[in-house]
Amino acid sequence: MKSTHFFYFLILFFAVFSEPTMAGNKEPLAVKREHLSMDNDWRFALGHAYDPSKDFYNGTGGFSYLAKTGYGDGAASPEFDDRGWRKINLPHDWAVEQPFSPKGTLSHGSKAIGRNFPEASVGWYRKTFVVPAADLGKHISIAFDGVFRNSIVWINGHYLGTEPSGYNSFEYDISEYLNYGGNNVIAVRADVTIEEGWFYEGAGIYRHVWLNKTDQLHIATNGTFVTSQVKNNTADVTATATIVNADKKTRNFNVTQTIVDADGKILATNKVTGLTLKPFSSQDVKSILTVNDPRLWSIETPYLHRLVTTVEDNGTVTDRYATTFGIRTIRFDANEGFFLNGKHVKIKGTNNHQDHAGVGAALPDALQEFRIRTLKSMGCNAYRCSHNPPTPELLDACDRLGMLVIDENRLMGVASTELNDVKRMILRDRNHPSIISWSIGNEEWGIEGNITGARIAATMQAFAKSIDSSRYITAAISGGIGNGISTVIDVLGYNYVATKNTDEQHKKYPNQFSWGTEEGSTVASRGIYEDDMGKQQLVAYDRKQNDFFYSLEQGWKHYAARPYLAGMFIWSGFDYRGEPTPFGWPSVVSYFGMVDACGFPKDDYYYLKSWWTDQTVVHLLPHWNWQGKEGQEIRVCAYSNCDEVELLLNKKNLGKKTMEPNGHLEWQVKYQPGTLEAIGYKKGVRVGQDVVKTTLSPAQVRLLADRQVIKADGRDITVITVQATDKNKLNVPTAENEIGFSINGPGKIIGVGNGNQTSLEPDQYVEQVNLVNISNLKEKFVEELNVKAEVAADYDDTGWQAAFKDTRDDEFGRKVKAIVYRAGFTMPADFATASTTFFSKNIGKLQSIYINGKEVGHEIKESDGKQEFKLDASLLYPGTNTIAIVATPLLKANIWASVNTDPGLIQLVYPAAPYKRKLFNGYAQVIVQSTGQPGTIILKAASPGLKESVVEITTK
Ligand code: GAL
Repeated sequence: MKSTHFFYFLILFFAVFSEPTMAGNKEPLAVKREHLSMDNDWRFALGHAYDPSKDFYNGTGGFSYLAKTGYGDGAASPEFDDRGWRKINLPHDWAVEQPFSPKGTLSHGSKAIGRNFPEASVGWYRKTFVVPAADLGKHISIAFDGVFRNSIVWINGHYLGTEPSGYNSFEYDISEYLNYGGNNVIAVRADVTIEEGWFYEGAGIYRHVWLNKTDQLHIATNGTFVTSQVKNNTADVTATATIVNADKKTRNFNVTQTIVDADGKILATNKVTGLTLKPFSSQDVKSILTVNDPRLWSIETPYLHRLVTTVEDNGTVTDRYATTFGIRTIRFDANEGFFLNGKHVKIKGTNNHQDHAGVGAALPDALQEFRIRTLKSMGCNAYRCSHNPPTPELLDACDRLGMLVIDENRLMGVASTELNDVKRMILRDRNHPSIISWSIGNEEWGIEGNITGARIAATMQAFAKSIDSSRYITAAISGGIGNGISTVIDVLGYNYVATKNTDEQHKKYPNQFSWGTEEGSTVASRGIYEDDMGKQQLVAYDRKQNDFFYSLEQGWKHYAARPYLAGMFIWSGFDYRGEPTPFGWPSVVSYFGMVDACGFPKDDYYYLKSWWTDQTVVHLLPHWNWQGKEGQEIRVCAYSNCDEVELLLNKKNLGKKTMEPNGHLEWQVKYQPGTLEAIGYKKGVRVGQDVVKTTLSPAQVRLLADRQVIKADGRDITVITVQATDKNKLNVPTAENEIGFSINGPGKIIGVGNGNQTSLEPDQYVEQVNLVNISNLKEKFVEELNVKAEVAADYDDTGWQAAFKDTRDDEFGRKVKAIVYRAGFTMPADFATASTTFFSKNIGKLQSIYINGKEVGHEIKESDGKQEFKLDASLLYPGTNTIAIVATPLLKANIWASVNTDPGLIQLVYPAAPYKRKLFNGYAQVIVQSTGQPGTIILKAASPGLKESVVEITTK
């Protein structure tokens, strides 16, 4: 093999196998960097917001973890016994598992978490993992893509740091704290008592966690930056890599930067030699690489390249890092709007929070993709991450699928806190070709219209540009147009133009770029065509909410008519939990979406699809099930991009109407059951139609999988639509049947939803783990282990002393041969529906354990370690039970030492109830995830009186 070929082979091999996000793969050749998923096999338990005894005694030690290195106590200690905690995998959102409560925060979806629920507002996560002995000497860090919120992290009892925001990614160097060749424990405490946003935010480790291993000489995290200048048929790609020497000695090295295309073919490469870095220093290495006839990234063809950066020291590769990027140009024009690759693009955007039916904020990566595909199908070409930096995989999906992005900072400010947050957002996300703009803030009411706001915005804008001058800086303004932030911001973001004169602002600031960062704000329930204030349901006809807002059509017409406005972002793409404007409890989900919280289209979706895509659209509303309204007038609308639409009822022509651009058509139709049909014409030729039919009552369940084949990787998902059909196989648009689900094979249900904003049904059915503590042990000294009377269930121990009062020293050892310890513990009334396990710890060198007088553990040696005993329900009672432990004493090894006084705890596991969900106007959704094995998943759906349905999904 010629050397050039071999190099090509190496790069190809690398390009295929070393994608940084491909966790857990065997590393090829000399590639040193490992990027390992830490998502699986965590233990989880709720702590407490202020009661240390319910918060696993963390922070109660005389010297806290902030006082002495390695003093993480309670659940932060590596010794802590978490065997009773629930097993979970990430991403995980404990908020979505909670019931709804009117005492929860309305803006956050009324889940029973937050201020009023201290017992459900702190979550603890622990994971034990092995680090091979051979890793000693490497640079090892733990990276969190985001934890909601105020996370505190410890490794092996060592405090690593606190991250206040739930939206920042953060990483800690753990190299020196690790136990090489043995177990290591990471502990995380998250606290959602205080909220950050005013929308559902989830709770816990809702994004991925990674273990990164590199050589001491390596590329910094997020340490590459790729920008491109496209001229004629070439692109000059500027690739910068920040190299860090974390070694204690000076390192000499070379850096190679190579661009490969999607097939792994090398397009350009450059080697920079003779570099030197002193210990604990870093350096930027920059190459300009020319790509001829570049394939450009665009909305229609989102072509991705990769930059491969290789660091090599004396012939050995010390690091190799792949950066996905796209070659494209972006430009705003104050009069003509936005241009991508020199081509004008009207921004047809939506705002979205990270929240989906069934799973809350913990979105599997494939669900990010599902949501972006859903929005794209409506013609949406831009996504505003309102109002925080998103999960990285959302941006990956936007890159892959062709979706422009505004990446938004959480809180405005110029203290180091906020500027550092902006910096972290930009460094993390700057290589995504999808991102066209950094937003420094949203509706900062306190400052947006005043001089303080103008100063802060100007500083944040200049600061952002100092890190990345290739994106445009925006801020979303609600009031305060003409003063404050709107006087200094490069791209003015209008939130709702009904109350603003955009023409006047454009005249006054003719060089300012502008777009609508929020528009629409229409409120609707999917499939509802008559307001029902009692049920808190609002019609899905396009209607302005009040005089402060436009209807969707009014809003879009405003933007479509003004070339100087680059476009707009609808509030919102998807419905999300919280902000159920205009209602309060029991509405728990917003009404703003073009699609509901599952992604089922509301009619607005079709209005936009008509004017946002080139596909022929004819969409009729409402449904045609109006039994009892025969002869009454029904408002019928057609959304279409045809020139004319003709309406027929039971073949009778009700007239053809001409469509106004960006408009819609309406008829008043006297109801008569049967078939309502709309026919669309372009240039007089029939090009499309929509039909709605009166249906019979539901007769059968129907299941439809969004993807029939998914990866058997334990992560991939398929989104299943549940419907009810009548005996003629027509979907019943008003069906509300409750459907029960069962699943077999290598898959599990991870959440259900139906898009009903007032549904208080559970999103998830998860097993419940309760812990019963054994405390207040009493003791009596005895002569031998084999006592009988003192271990009996009904033995009267009232005169016994509290256990462990005497110092367990050698003197005690000489005096006392054996001890009986007794305590009561309380089992709940429903304990028999749970499976019960006693996780014991040794409080003696040798001990026997009795529960209610029956021996469950015989002469367990201290060296046998912790034991676990399944307790049969027949052994236990509701209410008070007794445990007796007869033990030879444990003695302190030295004067400072202590002995274990904790006998262990009892765990009750209540199995998860079977999944079920009501249909809402004919629809429900089930999200099914692979459990990791190849095979066939069989999901069954049944409902009383309906024929059941089965769908099969292949995992491979
Ligand atoms: C806007 C705000 C959004 C959302 C929306 C609801 O003012 O920026 O986050 O709250 O109102 O109407």
